[in-house]
Amino acid sequence: MIRVEFPARGLEGLFPPGTTLHEAVRMMGHVIDYACGGNALCGTCCVRIVEGDESLCRVEKDEAGRLREIEAGPRDRLACQARLAGGGSSAPGVVVVAAAP
Ligand code: FES
Repeated sequence: MIRVEFPARGLEGLFPPGTTLHEAVRMMGHVIDYACGGNALCGTCCVRIVEGDESLCRVEKDEAGRLREIEAGPRDRLACQARLAGGGSSAPGVVVVAAAP
């Protein structure tokens, strides 16, 4: 399990690998904008990774293209595409998320 924290909303929870950041935040009770339904087409779900990018999947081609088009920062990810990864060790990963400025 991997801990996801969204301090701006006072949210945190444990989620299995494969969960997207959008799903994790929704399960904690907050909905990140999701205009294209999670297809890497709109960029409205962009979030900033404050900590823990090593506990996320790699950025794939579609996400990279959308991030470039919206001129996202180097620590930004699309919450609909960024999936939790790893977390199988005795020290669970932690991902800290903030709203992208
Ligand atoms: S919901 Fe549209 S890019 Fe993530």
